[in-house]
Amino acid sequence: RTTELDSICLKAEVIPVITIERIEDAVPLARALVEGGLPVLEITLRTDCALEAIRRMREALPGASIGVGTVLTPAQYRQAEQIGADFVVTPGATEALYRYGVESSVPMLPGISTISELMTGWQYGYRRFKFFPAESSGGAKAIKSFGGPIPEARFCPTGGITVDNAEDYLKLPNVMCVGGSWLTPQALVEAEDWDGIRELARQAAERFHH
Ligand code: 3PG
Repeated sequence: RTTELDSICLKAEVIPVITIERIEDAVPLARALVEGGLPVLEITLRTDCALEAIRRMREALPGASIGVGTVLTPAQYRQAEQIGADFVVTPGATEALYRYGVESSVPMLPGISTISELMTGWQYGYRRFKFFPAESSGGAKAIKSFGGPIPEARFCPTGGITVDNAEDYLKLPNVMCVGGSWLTPQALVEAEDWDGIRELARQAAERFHH
């Protein structure tokens, strides 16, 4: 699973975190991001149309890696498996999620924000984590400090990351990629400005690359 997550994260340094409010936005929005050069997407389960949005994106963009985010329970994890998610992202982690993820064929990126939470995930065999909410949990300094006791763990920080602070994280050896909603500003989505979103993705892909 670590290998699977690494190969997904190697495709892009920046993962747009997307919340779909209107189902008809799903495919054009995802297409704009992928065409702009960001082929790994996380769609949050925060809206009623999220699962249908992911289904449509997968069908329209078979080359993209599509993760399901904001997974809080094993039941939601199962839904993500059923719609063929490439990976699952959780904001935090529970014992139930850890246990479910160990058995699942879909890899999970569990959310942690403290060294104790990291140790719990580590004990379950997880090696790749989401660090959330990154900016309010100590930011890049915290991730750098995690590298002392557990240097092999790798992180995808999200929460408060923007084009201006992404590099502070990406330059750390234990950060594999960053995620955030800054690539899908509400104003552009509401205006259906897919060219504008493609351009934001293009700039991010150009500025941050492996
Ligand atoms: C997430 O779930 O990762 C966050 O909502 C993304 O955080 P951001 O909106 O601060 O980028």
